This record gives sequence, C-alpha cells and structure tokens, in this order.
Amino acid sequence: MTSLQHPNLVKLIGVVTGGPNIQIITEYMAKGSLVEYLRTRGRTIITNEDQINFASDTCRGMAYLESKNLVHRDLAARNVLINEEGVAKVSDFGLARPVDANQDGGRFPIKWTAPEALRESKFTNKSDMWSFGILLWEIYSFGRVPYPRIPLADVVSYIERGYRNEQPDGCPEEIYKIMQQAWNLDAKLRPTFDSVMHMLDRMRATAV
Ligand SMILES: *[C@@H]1O[C@H](CO)[C@@H](O)[C@H](O)[C@H]1NC(C)=O
Repeated sequence: MTSLQHPNLVKLIGVVTGGPNIQIITEYMAKGSLVEYLRTRGRTIITNEDQINFASDTCRGMAYLESKNLVHRDLAARNVLINEEGVAKVSDFGLARPVDANQDGGRFPIKWTAPEALRESKFTNKSDMWSFGILLWEIYSFGRVPYPRIPLADVVSYIERGYRNEQPDGCPEEIYKIMQQAWNLDAKLRPTFDSVMHMLDRMRATAV
C-alpha cells in the first residue's frame, strides 16, 4: 500500500503495530469524510462545480487503482476524504481483507455493492464501478442514503427487477447517464474508470 501514490488517494504514512490494535497513520484530511461534508454543507454551500470536482477527483483516484489492478471493494462517500483545499481523495483502499470481512454484524454495505459481488463475491474493477455510480448518486443527493424508500432486505430483488435510484434533483443528465451505465446488471457492459474520468474531465472543464 505504501507504493501506491496518487494525488487522489489518501497517503499512507505508517502503521503502528504491537498494541492490541493496528493503527494506520495517513495524511491529514482536514474536512473529513465526503458524506459528512455533503450532509453538513448541503445545497446552500456546495456548488455544481464542487460536485463535479468531487466526482472527478474520486474517479481519478479509482482510475489509478484500476490501472494497478487493485479492487477497492468498499467505495462509498464515507470512504472518500476531503483535505483543507477541498480535494477529494479515496481512502481505505489496499487493505487486505478476507472476502467476507464486511459481513460481520450485518454491516455489509448492500446498497453500495454490485449484485454479482453480493451473490458470488465477485469483486472486480467493474463491481467498484457499480459502487462509484452509487457514490455519484450520494454526491448529487447531498449525502442521502441510497434507495431511501426501499427496506434493506428488499434492495437486491428490486435491483434484479430493474429498479434503480432516481435522478436526484438538479443532477445533470450526463451524470445520471453515467450512473445508469455503472448500474448495468452485466458487469462487462459497465464503463471503465478511465473512460468515466475523461467524461467527467470534459464536464469539469465546462462547469460554471
Ligand atoms: C479490470 O480487471 C480485469 C480483470 O482483472 C482486467 O483484465 C482488466 O484489464 C481491468 N480493467 C482495466 C481497465 O484495467
């Protein structure tokens, strides 16, 4: 993990072992997690330009992981951190975890995880792309919990029947298209992070 260095990945500084817990020391991310940032600032403070910047920053970090053949498995707005300058960086990546490590205590992030990863533990760059679609939805809904009206136990069957998160108010059509592509049941048909990064960069360049 120390060999992974990118402006949009939270930098690992060191690991403290020997005590009862392993402590991980990273660069300081002054503005905390993206999901808290979205919820506490909301529509009055966060601009369209901020949203596209968060999306593009996160996608850039993920394109780097994808290029290194690394799979995140737990991409969500709670695992993206914001620094003093407002740059978003992906965190909690590259930590070795057993395939079912997230299943303890019913805290498996069902609403963020691709159907094939839930069903067959198939975690790939394409299941990360599904999660990225959910993360985009979080950005454009200012940190709401996905599928707000669906009980957790029913989410998977809704998805398999074709139900998807609705387009958030004020979310540009182009962004919602990316979400829909990311949520293709056929993992092969989801876009790569590299291609989404180029789309977001084009939108970022023209954002006002
Ligand atoms: C995604 O992962 C697959 C399987 O490991 C790999 O073959 C493919 O090259 C990766 N995609 C990109 C864009 O790196």
